[in-house]
Amino acid sequence: MGKVFYISRRTGIVVIVAAAAVIIIALTVVYAQKSRNEVKPVNDTEVWKNYRLPTSLAPVYYNVTLWPRLVMDANGMYIFTGHSGAAFTCVNETDLILIHSNKLNFTLTRGGHHAMLRGLSGAKAPAIKKTWLEVETQYLVVQLSEKLQVGSTYWLYTEFRGELADDLHGFYRSEYVEDGVKKVVATTQMEPTDARKAFPCFDEPAMKAVFHMTLIHPLDTVALANVIQRNIMFWPQHLKVLQTQFEPTEKMSTYLLAFVVSDFISIKTPAEAKVLIRIYARRKAIEAGQGEYALNITGRILDFFQNYYNSKYPLRKSDQIALPDFSAGAMENWGLITYREAALLYDPSMSSNGDKEAVSTVISHELAHMWFGNLVTMKWWNDLWLNEGFATYVSYLGVNDAQPTWNMKDLMVLEEVHKAFAVDALPYSHPLSSREEEVNTPTQINALFNSITYSKGAAVLRMLSGFLSEPVFVSGLSAYLKQFPYGNTVYSDLWGKLQEVISKTELWRLKLPASVTEIMNRWILQMGYPVVTIDTQTGRISQKHFLLDSESEPDRPSVYNYQWFVPIKWMKSGTAMGQHWLLEKTATHEPMRTNSEWVLANVNVSGFYRVNYDSQNWQRLISQLTSDHSVIPVINRAQIVDDVFNLARAKIINITVALSATRYLSEEREYMPWGSTIKNLDYFFQMFHRTEVYGAMEEYLRGKVQPLFNYFKTITADWTEIPSSHTDQYNQVNAISFGCRTGVEGCVNLTKTWYRQWMENPDKNPIHPNLKMPVYCNAIAAGGVEEWEFGWKMYKNSSSATEADKLMYALSCTKTPWLLKRYLDYAFDPDLIRKQDAPFVIVYIANNVVGQSLAWDFIREHVFEYGGSSPLFGRLILSVTNRFSTELELNQLQQFKKETAAAGFGSVLGLDQAIETTKANMKWVAENKEQVMRWLSEELA
Ligand SMILES: *[C@@H]1O[C@H](CO)[C@@H](O)[C@H](O)[C@H]1NC(C)=O
Ligand SMILES: *[C@@H]1O[C@H](CO)[C@@H](O)[C@H](O)[C@H]1NC(C)=O
Ligand SMILES: *[C@@H]1O[C@H](CO)[C@@H](O)[C@H](O)[C@H]1NC(C)=O
Ligand SMILES: *[C@@H]1O[C@H](CO)[C@@H](O)[C@H](O)[C@H]1NC(C)=O
Ligand SMILES: *[C@@H]1O[C@H](CO)[C@@H](O)[C@H](O)[C@H]1NC(C)=O
Ligand SMILES: [Zn+2]
Repeated sequence: MGKVFYISRRTGIVVIVAAAAVIIIALTVVYAQKSRNEVKPVNDTEVWKNYRLPTSLAPVYYNVTLWPRLVMDANGMYIFTGHSGAAFTCVNETDLILIHSNKLNFTLTRGGHHAMLRGLSGAKAPAIKKTWLEVETQYLVVQLSEKLQVGSTYWLYTEFRGELADDLHGFYRSEYVEDGVKKVVATTQMEPTDARKAFPCFDEPAMKAVFHMTLIHPLDTVALANVIQRNIMFWPQHLKVLQTQFEPTEKMSTYLLAFVVSDFISIKTPAEAKVLIRIYARRKAIEAGQGEYALNITGRILDFFQNYYNSKYPLRKSDQIALPDFSAGAMENWGLITYREAALLYDPSMSSNGDKEAVSTVISHELAHMWFGNLVTMKWWNDLWLNEGFATYVSYLGVNDAQPTWNMKDLMVLEEVHKAFAVDALPYSHPLSSREEEVNTPTQINALFNSITYSKGAAVLRMLSGFLSEPVFVSGLSAYLKQFPYGNTVYSDLWGKLQEVISKTELWRLKLPASVTEIMNRWILQMGYPVVTIDTQTGRISQKHFLLDSESEPDRPSVYNYQWFVPIKWMKSGTAMGQHWLLEKTATHEPMRTNSEWVLANVNVSGFYRVNYDSQNWQRLISQLTSDHSVIPVINRAQIVDDVFNLARAKIINITVALSATRYLSEEREYMPWGSTIKNLDYFFQMFHRTEVYGAMEEYLRGKVQPLFNYFKTITADWTEIPSSHTDQYNQVNAISFGCRTGVEGCVNLTKTWYRQWMENPDKNPIHPNLKMPVYCNAIAAGGVEEWEFGWKMYKNSSSATEADKLMYALSCTKTPWLLKRYLDYAFDPDLIRKQDAPFVIVYIANNVVGQSLAWDFIREHVFEYGGSSPLFGRLILSVTNRFSTELELNQLQQFKKETAAAGFGSVLGLDQAIETTKANMKWVAENKEQVMRWLSEELA
């Protein structure tokens, strides 16, 4: 699934403009993870109290018929009805059947039971003694009068109804308006544990089976599922509904099921194509050609992966469907991939290059799962990182193949590795791989969909592929897929296959210091990552667990004592010097440079760690940047900035070293170093916004960004053209957004003028899609109610999801408090802002310095309605309080904690973390304000 990851991705440029929102979303998901670890004893007497299924029964196939009603019933409810049979084999003696079922109401049999049981192939089924529903563990429990026979197969049949709610999970409904008519779509999101909301099933990833699906649906709609339709007929004729029966699926996990009933239309590949690819969406979107780009690249990327994995795409078709309401970014259902509209639809006249990249990456990510995840699946959710980290890593390779000029392999460092660095430096991070017994409940499983799983997973796999070399990595992978198709694995199966390949062919060349298992387990079984300190003069190299807050203690001990096997590629004054493995806490290398030289380690950031040097080497690197930065690879320029700022936060180096590394930026034209800088400065903006440092900081940065602004003004012929390269296009956006933010002459006026022109002629938007985000935002910030109302009107009228997203963000940029307050209220009216988008609106508003206190008031008022225990609420608390850095604010937080505790709330998720963060911020400001002010005054003098 593309979850947290794509929450940031889908907003594309917001990553650049409002990096904070994204990071906070990422961080907080980690927080929800914290409460996960206690291992409850397995209950042997009341087996249904356990969240995990017993292994005594194994599903073989299901016959499922579902009938979603797309109109409200007499009780004002949308429902679906269905019946389902599950064929399962008894592999261990038992008189108990546990099958997952959640929020389904069953038709009782004459005997008063929820289900009927019969034997298949001549087996005789025991009588049912008793059935009931376990709400907490989400089971239908069937107790039998006698034991089932080992080796026999049985058929458990149920009839049921469920609500087709708009809750974005299980079998749910999505609504939209077309030509003034409300349309209802019935669709699914099963991962991780909601297939059981659609029909009773053995809802664990290792319980693979074949599914025979049948959907009943209105005449003017089309029904889709994982596989192609076998036949469509009237059913029963007088009812004027259709019955679509599908081919049996491959043997697959329940979480990958999907079915959709809609009146969407599609475009598809020509008949002679080997795999049928179809892009489905709302009629209007398809007619406007918004599916074309997805169709263009899906085939290409699918081919890339067939070659990459050396494995044929196992299905006959690949449908991609864009849904108006969707909680994640996309979902890799086998053969029927579901997307948010913004993650699939692309409109050249409306979408930016960032939107295009997001669409490409999401498609690539989901297609990568067709093998890694779908064909070979993790045994249990504790290995989710392997699934998601892998798909995230190779998604960049897939896009790189489809768009070779985009520099995707480098961008991965900024988009994934840096994100992982940020989250994994917190004391309450967690190891990539958890123990199986630690992950049981749906809440615990859901908490794993976070940026550690996605981004750190991708970062360590990138490192692995880097030191093994891509050919070795790929042949191990392909051997792994060949050995376990339609099966389930644990991560050590992958290590094993890689080791086999190495042992056969390459070890003598690779010179690995240890086995893949020994190296990699240190990266996946302990949280965090090291900072490697190199004394370039003595050659002493050491490693230490990197924590952003130097006074924090990691939440948990590590079996490896926070020590890693670190591959260190390094260069000396621009010349590559080779690789050194650091295995110890401290090692001694020979002296690495003479006096006039500099050393740069972690070349191209091929390893997942930070680097610190002796201060003289820092000075040399910084003067190299100033004299000729091009000698240092562009990824490392971005990395140096990220390292110095974070090392300074952790008090490992002085803050002035970090600031000095920004001096050369007046000469920098590349996107990655700027992207990294802007993200890192965000903390400075947050902390100093309400202090006198702000003015000096603004002036200093204005001096740095002015040349960049002028540069783009020139190469775009006074903003009339768009730079040709993908990353230059990104950096043009940086020039404008950061230029306006720091008050570069002419910047705000430029945005105001364009926006005015648009207001005067709403049918003809003169603003290039790439630039819309910063232009809308700055124009609305500089404008008043008229600009805001216009933006709102365009938001409501927009037929393009990406355009709507940009406006939704820009509307939060206003400086007018009452407009912000009203916008905040809108976020809680699903008729005005879609449920899937409401959290973004609140986070955006909270990120606005004017909106932050409004959002804070709002949170305090509504905590009781929302329930403090929802992860979303925790996420909101953290983003709303991220600027907190005063005694007063700390008191407010503590007061809030008391009130919620007194109201019987227990612990509100996120609150303790917000208090910790506020204290850390207060300390940081106290320790750094003077120094920063002094440094800035000297630079400006
Ligand atoms: C099993 O569950 C029952 C009922 O909740 C409880 O009384 C019993 O102590 C549990 N046993 C274990 C081993 O947890
Ligand atoms: C399930 O459906 C398949 C395909 O329609 C059919 O062949 C099979 O007999 C059904 N199984 C049972 C037990 O009804
Ligand atoms: C079968 O059940 C016995 C007793 O509960 C248990 O020890 C054994 O591990 C089970 N075997 C399988 C394959 O589940
Ligand atoms: C299921 O039963 C509960 C309790 O009677 C009821 O509140 C709910 O509306 C029912 N759901 C459906 C879809 O009928
Ligand atoms: C899709 O591919 C065709 C043929 O290569 C090309 O003409 C068209 O511009 C592409 N469409 C998009 C939206 O990229
Ligand atoms: Zn995924």
